[in-house]
Amino acid sequence: MTQKIILITGGTGYIGSHAVVAFEQAGYQTVTIDNLSNSSLDAFDGVEKILGYRPIFRQGDIRDWDFLKGVFFEFAFDGVIHFAGLKAVGESCKKPILYHNNNVGGSIELFRIMEEYGVRHIVFSSSATVYHPDNQSPLTEDMRLGTTNPYGTTKLVIEKILEDLARDAQWSVISLRYFNPIGAHPSGYIGEIPSGIPNNLLPYIMDVAIGKRDKVLVFGDDYDTRDGTGVRDYIDVCDLVDAHISAYEYHDSGYTPINIGTGIWVSVLEMIELVQSAIDQTISYEITSRRSGDIAECYANVSLAKKLLWWTATRTIKDSIMNGWNFVSNR
Ligand code: NAD
Ligand code: UD1
Repeated sequence: MTQKIILITGGTGYIGSHAVVAFEQAGYQTVTIDNLSNSSLDAFDGVEKILGYRPIFRQGDIRDWDFLKGVFFEFAFDGVIHFAGLKAVGESCKKPILYHNNNVGGSIELFRIMEEYGVRHIVFSSSATVYHPDNQSPLTEDMRLGTTNPYGTTKLVIEKILEDLARDAQWSVISLRYFNPIGAHPSGYIGEIPSGIPNNLLPYIMDVAIGKRDKVLVFGDDYDTRDGTGVRDYIDVCDLVDAHISAYEYHDSGYTPINIGTGIWVSVLEMIELVQSAIDQTISYEITSRRSGDIAECYANVSLAKKLLWWTATRTIKDSIMNGWNFVSNR
């Protein structure tokens, strides 16, 4: 049987680099494209160390039609895993046009070239942020959608474009709505490298653990949760990329959004405690005011992923913390 060739956009990024490893190990040939706006080829050095060879990479921007045309002319793609996008919520509020141009504009160019070359099979990186903040967790895929920031809006708009495209039964489209990805590859060669001050909780805790920052600022302890701090569903990045393989191999025409989380909820204080006990180190923290735009609870109902994809998370939160710590301390 000939090897299927998969295009991975954003494949030098945090999740994309793990996906390149997982798809290659599952027997696919990957072609990664990335403009390196939020990553570097260091990630591909790590990928090469894990695989023992360097997968194909072409540097370029998904908004660049001539670049896309060159790549689609060069390779006969079976389908696309679409990670490329900007993801910083705060930055998106300051630069909404950049976010719409990059994420929505880039996706439109990608879908256009796919249509032109008859490549109509795609898995898209969406986010739990597309759910309306008034929904009560556990969140199910049929719940009300609505966003609170431009980043979230770009994800929702792209979902809607894909839903429209998939009215044509030749298209097979899955949007995976990620909850909170954490952790790193167990080799320690690839992981998350936040640019500047980390926005997300675990990278911030790791910065405190390595002594780069003094203490974790806990954004509010007056939520209606078991200890008053925000509750989230943290999903290991290796489990997350496994879900992409299952989603890619789930052949169905039409449009299907699927939650990818664990269904397990963890508070900010619980996460700090889990890291402390996993790495046997005290993590200083201070309770501060709520972060604007945050909600009390966000965790997934993961029944649809189990039912359709036969996928479920297998790594524990301790595995994710240890792998994340291994990556951070190696650097
Ligand atoms: P990341 O920033 O590490 O990776 C995204 C990659 O896309 C980067 O390497 C960046 O250089 C590249 N890129 C951005 N714009 C591009 C463009 N116009 N052309 C080509 N390449 C471009 O982010 P990540 O954490 O790996 O996230 C991957 C995807 O998953 C993103 O779409 C993100 O919105 C989505 N997502 C991430 C999270 C999370 O917490 N990490 C949660 C939900 C959804
Ligand atoms: C954030 C984004 C969301 C994005 C997700 C994954 C916001 C408002 N939302 O979600 O759009 O999809 O990341 O990338 O930015 N916390 C602290 N101190 C910190 C950092 C976080 O207490 O320094 C708390 C938060 O208040 C929250 C929890 O930790 O309760 C998790 O925060 P974070 O990792 O930023 O993820 P989300 O808020 O879920």
